[in-house]
Amino acid sequence: MTPYSFFLHLHSGLRYIVLLLVLVAIVRAWAGWLGKQPYSEGNRKLNLFALISVHTQLIVGLVLYFLSPLVQFNSETMKAHDTRYWTVEHLTGMLIAIILITIGYSKAKRAATPESKHKTVAVFFTIALVVVVAIILASGRGLVGGAGA
Ligand code: HEM
Ligand code: HEM
Repeated sequence: MTPYSFFLHLHSGLRYIVLLLVLVAIVRAWAGWLGKQPYSEGNRKLNLFALISVHTQLIVGLVLYFLSPLVQFNSETMKAHDTRYWTVEHLTGMLIAIILITIGYSKAKRAATPESKHKTVAVFFTIALVVVVAIILASGRGLVGGAGA
């Protein structure tokens, strides 16, 4: 197995952990916000694990960025969909989503009331998940599956 294939499979599989953790965190945050529930230790840990999963995906993605044959810097890069998507769009979109989750997590940490903690996570994580799903779909490989699946 080449390093490229190893990191592609790792990054491809981690996507499901990211999608699951962020989705469950969103559901619990909306329920906590609208249901006026306390911000429990379970809520805090779930949000932390979701944060760690996207930070891990960032590191693995960065490694993959230097290994992928689809990441290119030449005069043809922006003309072909695949090289443009993997060199520019995937990185930019996912970075925005990861930054939204990081900001949401740390704002929630500093928020004063359980309501504002839940609300912050609900809003930031929901927008981030929409971005992640849209960017994955834009790859043309589908939300499930892909070259490393
Ligand atoms: C390029 C790589 C990374 C960058 C740029 C990055 C960036 C950040 C930033 C800006 C925060 C601040 C959040 C706050 O305001 O509290 C943060 C928090 C955190 N990151 Fe990362 N991170 C990276 C990689 C990782 C990795 C690989 C892990 C673990 C596998 C990780 C785990 C965490 C944890 C656990 C926290 C916050 C814990 C807390 O405040 O309770 N990060 N990271
Ligand atoms: C939430 C964060 C991310 C998610 C959910 C995600 C998801 C994915 C998925 C689903 C694939 C396709 C895998 C396959 O075909 O089996 C992929 C490939 C890839 N991702 Fe990400 N990604 C994320 C962040 C990043 C970041 C931050 C970078 C770059 C710094 C990056 C770089 C790449 C590269 C280079 C490929 C491989 C293209 C190829 O050679 O086929 N990803 N990613």
